[in-house]
Amino acid sequence: MASNMEVLVFFLLTLLILFLNSSTSYAQDPNFLYQVCSKSSFTLNSTYQTNLKTLLSSLSSTATNQNTLFFNNTIAGKNNSETVYGLFMCRGDIPSNLCASCVGNATQRLSTNKECSVSVTAVMWYDECMVRYSNNSFFSTVAEGPGYVLASPTNMTNQESFNRLLYDTLNKTADEAAANSLKKFATKEGKISIFQNLYCLAQCTPDIDERECRSCLYSLINSDLPRCCAGTQGGRVLYPNCVIRFEIYPFYRSLTAPTPAPAGVVPSPNSAGSKNGRSRTAIVVVISTVVSIIVFAICFHYMRRKARKSNSNILLQENFGREITTLEGLQFDLATIATATNNFSPENKIGKGGFGEVYKGTLGDGRDIAVKRLSTSSTQGSIEFKNEILLIAKLQHRNLVALIGFCLEEQEKILIYEYVPNGSLDYFLFGGQQQKLSWSERYKIIEGTAFRSSIFT
Ligand SMILES: *[C@@H]1O[C@H](CO)[C@@H](O)[C@H](O)[C@H]1NC(C)=O
Ligand SMILES: *[C@@H]1O[C@H](CO)[C@@H](O)[C@H](O)[C@H]1NC(C)=O
Ligand SMILES: *[C@@H]1O[C@H](CO)[C@@H](O)[C@H](O)[C@H]1NC(C)=O
Ligand SMILES: *[C@@H]1O[C@H](CO)[C@@H](O)[C@H](O)[C@H]1NC(C)=O
Ligand SMILES: *[C@@H]1O[C@H](CO)[C@@H](O)[C@H](O)[C@H]1NC(C)=O
Ligand SMILES: *[C@@H]1O[C@H](CO)[C@@H](O)[C@H](O)[C@H]1NC(C)=O
Ligand SMILES: *[C@@H]1O[C@H](CO)[C@@H](O)[C@H](O)[C@H]1NC(C)=O
Repeated sequence: MASNMEVLVFFLLTLLILFLNSSTSYAQDPNFLYQVCSKSSFTLNSTYQTNLKTLLSSLSSTATNQNTLFFNNTIAGKNNSETVYGLFMCRGDIPSNLCASCVGNATQRLSTNKECSVSVTAVMWYDECMVRYSNNSFFSTVAEGPGYVLASPTNMTNQESFNRLLYDTLNKTADEAAANSLKKFATKEGKISIFQNLYCLAQCTPDIDERECRSCLYSLINSDLPRCCAGTQGGRVLYPNCVIRFEIYPFYRSLTAPTPAPAGVVPSPNSAGSKNGRSRTAIVVVISTVVSIIVFAICFHYMRRKARKSNSNILLQENFGREITTLEGLQFDLATIATATNNFSPENKIGKGGFGEVYKGTLGDGRDIAVKRLSTSSTQGSIEFKNEILLIAKLQHRNLVALIGFCLEEQEKILIYEYVPNGSLDYFLFGGQQQKLSWSERYKIIEGTAFRSSIFT
């Protein structure tokens, strides 16, 4: 009788532990975020190309080495103008196999994707790692840019108190990361309410010192973050030497060992002498404890799932339906666009890019517009299209061409921008006036926002 009870208790505890463990699961595939690749390119079959190939494969194989941990910088080629400098860094909490697959994926992508494959310099961010290379020696120096920000489209309701908690927690996370001499990495949690936590992460490349790391992180927290992500449910700022991220769901692995299972609750079963009376009360206590723990865990799990469901939409994919209201004012019908562009007449065509053609037009109210008509063969799906609109609509940037609206009708995917006679930001960045902007000016532009919106790509 008693031993049956013990079996039952053991079974319930096992169930409870399994249940708690399964409530946090992490994706295993590396998740690409963003890349910035220079327009300046090396010549094919040059020494630089050979060196770069050597460098990328060396980074990739170093990452698979169990002894490497999470960071490596290396140089390929003789010390001359063809030298390539490169590094990778993995997020401080991820296991080495995921680090290796992330770096492997990134180096592959750097050498194969159209935008980067002949670039002299590049930096690529994933959720799990960063890979960067350049013809300039950049080790142990803090780069001013390029930067990239990513914000959740959903605002917190209690913004004021949330922001106070956010900046306070991020500051502490930054201090701790800077002081961490091995990894320059830290995570911290804050309490929003009984059921909701704030999760923060900060990391620097370990080739810079404590002071540089702290000031790099502080500038993201106090200057970039308020512009992109204050009051939103999640956000990230990524720079070549330091990154921060916050969410209201756990997105990193806990670095401390999980607290042991509540084994102390189970009384030692070999209290041989005492018969029925005492052991029966013990069993009753154990059962009711276990049952209440399970009930609590189910409630907690449910609340957390609910919280996470509504908040894990940083990439906007699943939750688009919920956001549609914010897009309503932006939707145009096809007839309006056709009228504005003279039925997409060839005279109105002002450009052509990888995704389709661009027309100049005039709206009924006299506003001049540039209409980007995505080709129907475009690989961009409806969801990506809506994501782009949401992202552009959300971001305000003085150098960005303003998005006026969009049209999604009869296979047509159309973006409508304000018409700027001088051309878009991208024209300045990558077009014919390239020589007028120095790299540092470009970095400043990119720093402002990395959600470049181009009407010609
Ligand atoms: C580079 O080398 C490959 C073969 O090694 C050759 O097919 C290609 O034409 C070369 N390209 C240039 C630009 O020299
Ligand atoms: C990077 O990796 C190379 C080869 O795997 C090794 O020789 C070098 O010491 C590493 N550098 C750092 C900073 O860990
Ligand atoms: C590389 O060459 C530059 C001058 O060309 C020199 O200042 C530097 O110390 C050299 N670096 C190494 C590692 O030899
Ligand atoms: C790196 O490449 C850029 C663009 O091609 C060039 O302007 C710069 O001088 C190069 N730097 C070095 C150290 O070779
Ligand atoms: C990189 O990761 C993506 C997504 O997980 C995957 O589809 C792709 O095949 C990977 N590429 C390489 C070279 O590992
Ligand atoms: C979020 O809050 C900011 C200001 O704090 C506001 O400008 C923005 O429109 C809000 N976004 C949504 C989706 O409510
Ligand atoms: C975070 O640190 C910055 C820089 O030291 C400071 O200006 C800011 O007030 C701090 N914020 C909080 C909430 O402590």
